[in-house]
Amino acid sequence: MRTKILTLAFAALMTTSCAAQSVKLPAPSKACKTTLMEALTNRHSTREFADRDIPDDVLSTVLWSACGINRPSEGKITAPSALNAQDIIVFVIRKDGAYRYDPKDNTLTKVSSKDLRKDVAGPQKFAATAPVSLVLVSDNSKFPERMPAQAKTRMGVVDAGYVSENICLACSALGLSTVPRMTMKSDVLKTELGLDDNYDFIINNQIGYPKK
Ligand SMILES: Cc1cc2nc3c(=O)[nH]c(=O)nc-3n(C[C@H](O)[C@H](O)[C@H](O)COP(=O)(O)O)c2cc1C
Repeated sequence: MRTKILTLAFAALMTTSCAAQSVKLPAPSKACKTTLMEALTNRHSTREFADRDIPDDVLSTVLWSACGINRPSEGKITAPSALNAQDIIVFVIRKDGAYRYDPKDNTLTKVSSKDLRKDVAGPQKFAATAPVSLVLVSDNSKFPERMPAQAKTRMGVVDAGYVSENICLACSALGLSTVPRMTMKSDVLKTELGLDDNYDFIINNQIGYPKK
């Protein structure tokens, strides 16, 4: 009996702690009034950010724009990908930890409690001042196993480029600042995010409000 109670208590504890690690994001807003041409006209890289957090509803909209599901019946996403591999994973790096974005249920799953923004910034210190960094990683295991490693890498780089540009355009349309950067401490991030060599760190985008 005592063992049963302890087992149940342990199971309840595990359920609670796992549930706390997963954050359901608000639904993304698709009501933006900026036209595509205006977003393209205004798109530019910014390396200064206001000291202001990005609310979860805004983050949700940026993430959906990046690689969210736009055709639910087919499970397809806003960014094209080679062979429809959908290999790009977006990690959200914030002061309160690192999260993996899951487009299927619009959730963030916590993968680290550390503030890894300095590791994303590397030598470019300004990048750590953005409230959010989005790190785009290609999961090579999404490509056919027999495909040469070099082809997987090339496709991953191109796929990440589309996702990064979606982020740039979404930020432009929403009045947010961003810069795409290949600079980052990939090896440190790979360890901290618990990833193996199947994952290639390609590019990251800092996101913030413009500094006045
Ligand atoms: C693939 C790629 C890698 C980049 N890497 C960096 C980087 O490591 N650091 C940085 O400050 N900017 C980086 N940038 C941003 C470019 O410097 C920037 O896009 C370019 O100067 C043109 O400016 P614009 O984006 O305002 O048009 C990168 C851009 C791309 C497309």
